[in-house]
Parts: sequence; C-alpha cells; structure tokens
Amino acid sequence: MSESSESLPWWKRGVIYQIYTRSFADSNGDGIGDLGGILAHLDYLNDGTPASLGVDAIWLSPIFASPAFDFGYDVSDYCAIDPIFGRLADLDELIAQAHQRGIRVILDLALNHTSHLHPWFLESRASRSSSKRDWYLWQDPRPQGGPPNRWQSVFGGRAWQWDPATRQYYYHMFLPQQPDLNWRNPQVREEIDRIMRFWLERGVDGFRLDVVNAYFKDLELRDNPFRWGLRAYDRQAHVYDADRPELLPAYTAFRRLVDRYGDRMVVGEPLMGNPQVLQQYCRPDRLHLAFDFDLISCRWNPRAFQRTILACEQAFGPEGWPCYALGNHDVSRLVSRYPGPHAPERAKVAAALLLTLHGTPSLYQGEEIGMRDSPVPRRRILDPAGKRYWPLYRGRDPVRTPLPWNDGVGAGFSNGRPWLPINPDFRSVNVARESEDPGSVLSFYRRLIWLRRGSRALNSGSFQTLLRNPDSGLAYLRQSQEEIMLVALNFRGHPAQIVLDEDPSTHEWEWRLGTHPGSHGPLVGRRLNLQPYEVCIFQATR
Ligand code: GLC
Ligand code: CA
Repeated sequence: MSESSESLPWWKRGVIYQIYTRSFADSNGDGIGDLGGILAHLDYLNDGTPASLGVDAIWLSPIFASPAFDFGYDVSDYCAIDPIFGRLADLDELIAQAHQRGIRVILDLALNHTSHLHPWFLESRASRSSSKRDWYLWQDPRPQGGPPNRWQSVFGGRAWQWDPATRQYYYHMFLPQQPDLNWRNPQVREEIDRIMRFWLERGVDGFRLDVVNAYFKDLELRDNPFRWGLRAYDRQAHVYDADRPELLPAYTAFRRLVDRYGDRMVVGEPLMGNPQVLQQYCRPDRLHLAFDFDLISCRWNPRAFQRTILACEQAFGPEGWPCYALGNHDVSRLVSRYPGPHAPERAKVAAALLLTLHGTPSLYQGEEIGMRDSPVPRRRILDPAGKRYWPLYRGRDPVRTPLPWNDGVGAGFSNGRPWLPINPDFRSVNVARESEDPGSVLSFYRRLIWLRRGSRALNSGSFQTLLRNPDSGLAYLRQSQEEIMLVALNFRGHPAQIVLDEDPSTHEWEWRLGTHPGSHGPLVGRRLNLQPYEVCIFQATR
C-alpha cells in the first residue's frame, strides 16, 4: 500500500501538461505562440474549478534564445527568453499568475547540446587552442582519414561534422547545428549548474531535461554493435553513445542542487530506454521522474497495454514512480495512431488509462481535445527531420500545429498567419465547442482529472490488475489506505463481457465516472458487461 497522498509531493500526485509554446496561443499576431498567449489561457488549464482542465504543472517546450534550427532545442543563450516568446518579465508574470492558480511551471532544458551559434561553440570552434575547445567533442580524423567512428546522428547521416578551418570533427547527436557539449569538462558542468540556479531562483518549479541519457559518450569512442532497424541510427544498439555509467553521479548532482530549493523536480526525457534502465535513473538521490514512452508504441490491444504497464510496475516496484505519456511534440498524435471512425471513443479510453495508472501522467497539448495529425503540405514542412525524410516520414510538424481554441478566424490561436497550418477539422475539434459538449473528449478529460485530483486511490494508490489474460479490455484496482477504485476499459468497438480474476463482491461498488453514465448499477459478481469503448470507474463504498 502506498503512502497517503498528503505526504506525496506534487510531482507524484499531479498531472503534467506539456505546452508546445509556439503553438499554444499567440498574443501579438505574429503567428507564433508566446508567453502572453499562455498567460491569457491559464484559466483554461486550472482555475480551481472542474470547468477547467485541472492540471498541476505546465512544461513549456523551450523558450530560450535560439536560431530555431530544431525549434528551440538548439539554444544560443540559456538565460535569455527568445524575443519571439516575450521577455523575462513575461515569464516572471507567468510564474506568478500560474502559482496563484496552483500551477507549477517547468522549463525545458536541452543540455546535451547547444546551438552551433551559442557563444561557447563559436569560441570553441575558433581555434584548436581556444580556451573552450574542450567544451565540445572534437576529434581528429582516423589515421586513414574519415570520421573517428561510425556513430550516427538521430536526424540522419554521420554524427561527426568536419570543420575545415580547424581540421577536426565535432560530434552532434542531432543536427550539425546542435554540437554536443563535453560533460566531462568541469567548467561546462559549472555553467550548467549556474543556469539551473538562475531559473530556480526566478521561481520555476523544475526542468524537463532533454535527451537526459545521452550526456556522456564512451571515452574510447567504440563503435556500437549492429541491430536491426529501419533508419541507419536504429541499426545500431546505442551502448556507447547513450546510457553510460557516468550519468548516475551527474543525476545525483542535479538532485542535490534542485532539492536545495524545496519541492522542485526534474523529469528526464530519455531517448529510447526501457523501464529497467529508467528506474535506475529515478531514485530518491537521482532524477525525480523520467518519461516512459512505451505506451506510445503499443498496438490498440489491451494485452499490449497490460504487458507494458506490468513491465513498468515490475521494474519500478510499489514505491517507485513511473511517469507515463501517450504523446508529445515528437510523435504522432493518439487519434492518428489509432485512426478510424471511433477515434474519439478510443481517445477517451486512452485518457482514462493515462489518468488512472500508478505514476505521474504527462499530457500533451491538444490531446485533451482529440486533435489529429495535420496533413501539413510539403512546402510548409519546417521540421528538419521531415525535410530530410519526406515522403517516407513527414516529420513532426503534423503534431505541432496550433491548438484550435474556437471556430473563428485563425481558430482563436492567432490574428496573423500561423507558423504552421491550422488543422482542417478545427471547426469541430476546438476548445470552445468541446467545452459546451458534455460528451466531448475535452469534457471527459476534465471529469477524469478532477476525479483523480480528489481521489487518493487514483493519484497515489497501488496498482493491481484484475485480468491475467486481457482480451477485450483492461480492469484493475487502484488502492490507497483509505480508498479503493476499480477501473474497467473496453478497447473494442463491440459490447464485451469482462470476467474478473477475483470476485470483487467483498466490497460494494458505486459507479463514479465513465463514458456511459446510467448504464451501470452497482457492480455485482465477477462479470462486467461493457458497451463498445466504454470506460467505467467504480469506487468501493464498503
Ligand atoms: C528531444 C526533443 C526533440 C529534439 C531532440 C533534440 O528528443 O524532444 O524535439 O529534437 O531532443 O534536442
Ligand atoms: Ca506571438
């Protein structure tokens, strides 16, 4: 049994909402979302009543000064807000207003690499004898010529870029415009600490750490072993360019620094990673949380979801704390991953799953209204990955399009020309319309999140599956010292009878929330009849 939620920190109990800043709301008509836009919509996120979404924290995708080759994940000044998003004073205001509503603010720090235009790199690349040469990963060619090893970049091509002026290669895990920092250099580490302190002192509640498991690379630069995969990057098992042992002491150092500021937190974004590895990164003296992305790759099959959940439960144990996500700015949206006429129904089943698991849920902007991937035409593709791999892979722009607030001009997102096109279905899939419809995906998210907020079993309790062999759906218990909830989900488009492994009749169950209000009396016996794509959550009353 888990601790009572009173004693649980906010980052365990709460829901994280990812704001993709460029696409949330534009306050000045330049077509790009900004801090003013977020400020104007804080009540949507949490105004203290169930009419709002009710999230506990917002994570803002990078807002630092950046030439935007990778849309903010290439930073040229970690202590300055990019002018397209606003000024430092706007962030101060946002933090103050968010805190008034009980919303924490998490910044996105990409510290594995900088922009190639960061003054550190400009200085580093100026000459071999530069005082910052060793701040990045420079290497001579092999004796026979060519790059030092076969490491590949995530975005395609070799991870080594030749610098003709100084006749060495530098390493870039992503774009050549994103050179990797040398985490073994103590001066780099000092700068990183300084950056974190700068923001913590300004009142931010924590950080999302970009590609947190790639900071260190093998000193001997050994080649990765082969494995099967589609892209060249995937045809290597990343044993030497990620998940290196030096990470653990670095995480401990983060934790010490952040914990000095009270109840702040860091959530790591691993590139790849399985729960066994992740749970080693999340300990009381390491990272607070690390995203588990495995649910994202599950087929629409309850067995696949259960296998993934149980693997995570097993790795983390009852005291450990996973952090689940069903989407983010890098992957296809849920409704597009599981397409078809019943996509909105599936979105509700998925929402119920995400918000009733044991762990912290992270919700990506737009998923709460069931947005789908937008068919961004080729000439408007901006994501470097999309440009490179078109038409095999259309990149990440389709999942980064503006949040439709209403069916007016610019979908209420902007008075100007939006930086990415508005989704074609914005007249039906938008915040205003779904707010008025009690049967919408948005209304369902709101009810779920508010139920979760008030339920210790759901926000802090233990997890126990009630089905050894799921067939049509999932059923599980969430249990805290004072409360028991039973969650049942039908993944199928036809009515299903779920037969629980255990007879739950030792308790009396009252229906609390679901997709088909009125379709259930109290739960009796082991058999549970569910409507197509039905979600129901029962509470034990005795
Ligand atoms: C992370 C980000 C992604 C970015 C990459 C490089 O995976 O989520 O958007 O392109 O890191 O910083
Ligand atoms: Ca703007």
